[in-house]
Amino acid sequence: MRDQWNSKLGFLLAAIGSAVGLGNIWRFPYVAATNGGGAFLLPYFFAIITAGIPILILEYTMGKTYRAGAPVTFARINRRFEWLGWFQVMISFVIAIYYFAIIVWCLSYIGFSFTQAWGNDPTRFFTEDFLGLTDSALNLGGINTSLLLPFLLIWAVSAFIMYKGVSKGIETVCKICLPILFLMTLILVIRGITLPGAVDGLNYLFKPDWNALKDPGVWVAAYGQIFFSLSIGFGIMLSYSSYLPKETDVVNSAFITATANHGYEIFAGIGVFSIMGYMALQQGVSVEEVAASGIGLAFMTFPTAISALPALNAIFGVCFFGALFIAGITSLVSILQTVVTGFHDKFEVSHKKAVTIVMVPSFVLSFLFITGAGMNILDIVDAFINNIGIVSAGVIELILITRFFDAEKLRREANEFSNFSIGRWWIYTLRIVTTVVLGMMIVLNTREYLANGYGGYASADINVFGWGTILFVVVFADVLTTMKGKDGYRDLDKISYKEVN
Ligand code: ALA
Repeated sequence: MRDQWNSKLGFLLAAIGSAVGLGNIWRFPYVAATNGGGAFLLPYFFAIITAGIPILILEYTMGKTYRAGAPVTFARINRRFEWLGWFQVMISFVIAIYYFAIIVWCLSYIGFSFTQAWGNDPTRFFTEDFLGLTDSALNLGGINTSLLLPFLLIWAVSAFIMYKGVSKGIETVCKICLPILFLMTLILVIRGITLPGAVDGLNYLFKPDWNALKDPGVWVAAYGQIFFSLSIGFGIMLSYSSYLPKETDVVNSAFITATANHGYEIFAGIGVFSIMGYMALQQGVSVEEVAASGIGLAFMTFPTAISALPALNAIFGVCFFGALFIAGITSLVSILQTVVTGFHDKFEVSHKKAVTIVMVPSFVLSFLFITGAGMNILDIVDAFINNIGIVSAGVIELILITRFFDAEKLRREANEFSNFSIGRWWIYTLRIVTTVVLGMMIVLNTREYLANGYGGYASADINVFGWGTILFVVVFADVLTTMKGKDGYRDLDKISYKEVN
């Protein structure tokens, strides 16, 4: 029996909960900052229009039409496409494992915020005292016992939500969490923009630098951010929309989700950049310098800013890390659900069994990220799974659907229940513009990683955790595709739904 969302609003909140995640608060500011601030915004909006919204419409339409997670949806479209579904599911599996580790850090930092436990040197505190960071990704250095408690707590919470299921678990949690998240972010933004120096931070975020548009790296980063942030290309939105009734207006759902997600991303960005402007003023350096800490922005730069605030430091810290935590949890469950739906639909195991099949191995593997090498491994895996994995999954999806399948069928399907009809531009955008840009991204990223490695890590680290992760995903996708599913899992008419009021 397949679950269904209780209402369209419930679905939208869950989809927004999935999209609004660590990507919006933790990733967006540092990607924008390291790609020239204002220069980044133009490619970013271009990517929303040419990839974000069109792919979201595509995935919503496929999910609600074929009513299954990624592997079975692709298998129903064409038996030979099933592998792509498993490839996307395995990407989600990998992301879930490290995503989880970042939420563990957030939870710990909510606690640290009360006393600003990071002291005068947040970078040293984060890397040495808190993470016990080793010198390479292959030097594990043992499990970090101080992370064990938040680690187990978060696993327990996410397992609880997952066992409850899509409508009773995920939908309920998103309904409760999203308003709290918004409130916390509002506090951050109000505090941020009222600080001296805020305007410099905002100028950095919003002032366009036309020259940077010539840099392909900025475009690559913008498209990468859209995929991660909107939860597209790795099976999530496909699996969420498979729990929708057929009569849903997917076109307006896609516009609502994208507007809410990117609106929130910019809104949170205003808060974060204002605070960076304040810090720059305090330290007498440029915003660019403050923002250059990359992956550590939230845990190294931000604590410094929190300590430097004139008042209410603890409340501010709790709001920042609390917002990250809540946004993270509502996305983590969507990433896990993608894998659960994949197993449930092909092998027709019960929901609880599917959850166990997914939670147990991800629990075991995520221990890697609370070792002393955790952050280094995370950095490498995150880069490869996003810049090679998700982008490849996206481009293969577009090629298969727009070139080896009659995409017109999906356009009719999308329009049947939509107030706003999408024209043929939709297919052409996906088929030509998006495919070409993503194809270029793969070539550029692969060339860059092969020639220069990544982030200054040793090649052994890159081979094991970068290319190794891609190999892991491909091999498991192969294995799961060749495994025998329940008879008729590819037949659309063999599914039954729970009664909904
Ligand atoms: N969309 C989720 C995020 O932004 C995965 O973090």
